Amino acid sequence: MMRYAVFGVGGCGRGVMPLMRQQLSHIPPDSCELIFVDDNAKVTLCNGSRVMPYHDWLRLPASRRSISLAIADSQVRKMLADRCRKDGVEFFEVRAGNTVQLDDVSIGEGAILCPFVTLTSNIRIGKHFHANLYSYVEHDCVIGDFVTFAPGVRCNGNIVIEDHAYIGAGAVIKQGSSGMPLVIGRGAVIGMGAVVTQSVPAGATVIGNPARALVRA
Ligand SMILES: CC(C)(COP(=O)(O)OP(=O)(O)OC[C@H]1O[C@@H](n2cnc3c(N)ncnc32)[C@H](O)[C@@H]1OP(=O)(O)O)[C@@H](O)C(=O)NCCC(=O)NCCS
Repeated sequence: MMRYAVFGVGGCGRGVMPLMRQQLSHIPPDSCELIFVDDNAKVTLCNGSRVMPYHDWLRLPASRRSISLAIADSQVRKMLADRCRKDGVEFFEVRAGNTVQLDDVSIGEGAILCPFVTLTSNIRIGKHFHANLYSYVEHDCVIGDFVTFAPGVRCNGNIVIEDHAYIGAGAVIKQGSSGMPLVIGRGAVIGMGAVVTQSVPAGATVIGNPARALVRA
């Protein structure tokens, strides 16, 4: 029996489950099972799929185990990725059927590409990338590990996004230029709707148009 799972029964996971189900639809149902795995869920069934704790899933006999980490928080995602790797679990790439991918794009393991995502040409993307609905990545971008795009992110050409950055819904990032990319630093947070016109330092949170550091009262 091949065991497939979506880790996380939250909003992200419930969006990912039908995509993964569709990708697995060519496998006979008696040789494969797709369920939710979640250690904190209060339900045992969600949208018609079983829900069980990770360790219970690991105990089920399996010829193959593959999982999608549908958790938006990149640090939690990394912690789970480390745990799954140690347990010999493979990472499933979730890819909506209408994803557009052009020439020379490389993507690390465990990505989630939601409906209407577009990746144009000459793009490098690290591990466990989440690109939510209607996001795009334009030419010559380099994206690190555990980067998260909320819905509708517009990542234009010649942009570098470092590990663990989070880009909020509808944010627009101005293009860089060849040899002089615009850089979103490691762990930076771009607020929803921000218009980013210049590089953002590691760890900073920026909001607004043009995007400026969020100053808390
Ligand atoms: C930027 C962000 C991370 C800040 O979150 P936070 O630290 O919890 O900040 P708060 O909600 O306490 O807001 C702090 C202040 O910034 C303002 N603010 C927050 N986000 C803002 C944004 N994106 N644009 C403009 N102003 C914003 C708030 O109105 C508040 O202003 P006030 O102090 O005058 O009342 C968050 O608001 C955000 O944009 N997250 C992305 C959400 C998203 O894309 N979700 C998609 C889910 S799939």
